[in-house]
Amino acid sequence: MSSKIKTIGIITSGGDAPGMNACIRALTRTATFNDVKIIGFKQGYNGLIENKKTILTSKNVSNIIQRGGTILKTARSEGFRTYEGRKKAFDNLKLNNVDALVAIGGDGTFTGASVFNSEFDFPIIGIPGTIDNDLFGTDNTIGYDTALNTVVSAVDKIRDTASSHGRLFVIEVMGKDAGLIALRSGIATGAEAILIPETTTYIDHLLDKLSKDRMNKKPSGIIIVAEGDDFGGAYNVAKAIKEDHPLYDIRVTVLGHIQRGGSPSAFDRVLASQLGAGAINALLNNHRNAMIGIINKDIVLTPFDQAIKHNNKINMSLLELAEILAC
Ligand code: F6P
Repeated sequence: MSSKIKTIGIITSGGDAPGMNACIRALTRTATFNDVKIIGFKQGYNGLIENKKTILTSKNVSNIIQRGGTILKTARSEGFRTYEGRKKAFDNLKLNNVDALVAIGGDGTFTGASVFNSEFDFPIIGIPGTIDNDLFGTDNTIGYDTALNTVVSAVDKIRDTASSHGRLFVIEVMGKDAGLIALRSGIATGAEAILIPETTTYIDHLLDKLSKDRMNKKPSGIIIVAEGDDFGGAYNVAKAIKEDHPLYDIRVTVLGHIQRGGSPSAFDRVLASQLGAGAINALLNNHRNAMIGIINKDIVLTPFDQAIKHNNKINMSLLELAEILAC
């Protein structure tokens, strides 16, 4: 394979996701295999702006495949939102003789990558790394499977105490704009109701369902609410239920950032390895300015503007299934 690319810079950016380290390892080792040098820039785009970096080698990415978080650190860079910041980033890439960039992150990361490319014509490949799974162009983002399993294990534990006390728990999971974590974790834990940002929440519908549940002598239950649901978060939902059903003993749990940490699942480690290797191969084969993903087991490249503009759609049949199974 002959390519002009001799050095590739990599960053992890935006919210961290379990599996980012497995991806850094795969990028480094695939590059090394192809005689390409890897420079890891620290704290996302900030590392490019401030020239904070470390050389990655096959050896120093040992023993990270199982670790959560990101050894390169991450940030939601304010500086990169400005032209001056992006110009500094470009100058530092040139200073370090970097020929191409790989950015692991989500929506915000790829929006920045797309603007940067249009201004400086710099080759970039994006790798989807976010627990939200909200990117078009891949069946799964790195970290989603692990986050789902974290939620399921937490909700199972809450279910034990909910059922012992005959309580209703309203549990808030992450997802500002996307209900994919809520939907799948809700089905996997047998939640009584799932509220997500992609559909309008009719609170009366939920209150009617809870009335029926009480008539059926079902005093305990789990309601999963995505943080971005249009009715508000879990506290708003709990308040509305309490007003209508004062007899319910209600508790609220906000799972929060526990969903972003922890050792990646086997699925996320393999996905991260495939996407990391795929990104290097894509750059060496002259692909640019696209996000790499896997759809139906095939590696695919989706131009940044499409990956960003079209959200990963909710599978409505899963939502219907959840309602049927919770009756
Ligand atoms: O994008 C991933 C995500 O975990 C979202 O689900 C959540 O809304 C957001 O990040 C939280 O961001 P932060 O850690 O900056 O509060």
